[in-house]
Amino acid sequence: MKILGIESSCDETAAAIVEDGETVLSSVVASQLDVHQKYGGVVPELASREHLRAITPVVREAMREAGTAFGDLAAVAVTEGPGLVGSLLVGMTYAKAICLTHRLPLIGVNHIEGHIHAVVLEHRSQLLLPALALVVSGGHTHLFSVAEDWQYRLLGRTRDDAAGEAFDKVAKLLGFGYPGGPVIDQLAPHGNPTAIRFTSPNMKGNANDFSFSGIKTAVRYWVEGEDLASEIAARRELLRAVSKPSVEQWMRVTPQRTLDLLASFQHAVVTDLLRRAEKAAAAIGARSMIVSGGVASNQGLRKAARERGFAFPVFFPTPALATDNAVMIAAAAFPKLQRGDLATFALKAKANLALA
Ligand code: KG4
Ligand code: ZN
Repeated sequence: MKILGIESSCDETAAAIVEDGETVLSSVVASQLDVHQKYGGVVPELASREHLRAITPVVREAMREAGTAFGDLAAVAVTEGPGLVGSLLVGMTYAKAICLTHRLPLIGVNHIEGHIHAVVLEHRSQLLLPALALVVSGGHTHLFSVAEDWQYRLLGRTRDDAAGEAFDKVAKLLGFGYPGGPVIDQLAPHGNPTAIRFTSPNMKGNANDFSFSGIKTAVRYWVEGEDLASEIAARRELLRAVSKPSVEQWMRVTPQRTLDLLASFQHAVVTDLLRRAEKAAAAIGARSMIVSGGVASNQGLRKAARERGFAFPVFFPTPALATDNAVMIAAAAFPKLQRGDLATFALKAKANLALA
C-alpha cells in the first residue's frame, strides 16, 4: 500500500511515497532556508508563498521518483498541525485536491507523531514498547510515553523556548545566522564544553518539563560581559559574502572563547535533555528510547546518548529524516490507514494541534 505524504508545517515543502509504512520509494524536500536566512528566522507570510510555489513541483517529483501514478496510491497523508497555519493550509488544500480528483482516502497526521515515526520506520523490529519519545525541534521539546497500542501520553514539555529555538537564538545573537543548530553543532567540537558552567533549571511541579530561556539569557549576559561586538560584526559580514560558510571560514572569525561558549552551551542543553529523558524513561519502565526532530541530528546529542550508558537502546533517525520531511508523515499514516482512521474533507489545519 503506497501512501503519498505531504508536509508543509514550517519552512520545508516536502512530499514522499512510502510503501507499507516502511519502504521509502521517494522523498523530496524543498527548503526555504535562503528565503528566511536574511531575516534570522522563519517569516510566516513568506513561508506560505514559498509553499505555494513549491508544492506542485515537489509532489510531481516525488511521484516521478517513485514511478507511481496517483491511481496506484492507497491514500494521501498530510500534516494537519501543529505549525504555521498559512503553511499547513497549502499542503492541506493540495492533498484534498488530489484526493478529490483521484477518489483517494485522506489521512491527517500530527507533525510530532510524524517525527516519532521517522524512527519507527527505520527501527521497527528493534523498537521495544513502551518507549520514551523525546521530540526536540525548533518548535517542540516534548517527552511522551509510547504504549504498545501506539497511544501517546505527554510526560513533559518546554515551558518557554524549544531546544532548537534556543540553538537558533544563541546563534543569531552571536552572528551565525539561521538556523543555528547545524552551525553550533559543527563548531562545538572545537571548544571546551566545561569552560562555562550553565546551571540546569529546577522545574517545580513537573521535573519532566524543560526551560531554555534561562540559558539563552545567561549567554546574552556573557556576550555583553565579554564585548564580542567586533567578532559578531565579522561573522555577519561573512554571512553577507557567503550564504553557507564552511567550518574553516567560521573558525577564522570565531576566537577560542566563543568556541568554548558554543561547546558549553551545547553541552548544557544536551545534558539537560538526556537527564530529564532518562528520568522520565525510568518512571514509565521504558524498554527503549526514541529521539527525533531537527535537534536529533545534533552530533553532540548522539555522542552523549551513546556514552551515557542508558539501560535501554536509544534510537535516532538518519539525519535526513530528523529534520522536517514527508517520509515521516506517510509512515505515520500507515497504521491509521490500517485502522481505517481516515479524515473527511472537513479536516482543518490546526496551528496548536496536540499529540496527547
Ligand atoms: O524538525 P525541524 O526541521 O523543524 C521543526 O519542526 O521545528 O527542526 C528544526 C530545528 C531548528 O531549530 C534547527 O536549528 C534545529 O532543528 N537543528 C539542530 C541541528 N539541525 C537542526 N539543532 C542542533 N544541532 C543540529 N545539528
Ligand atoms: Zn518538525
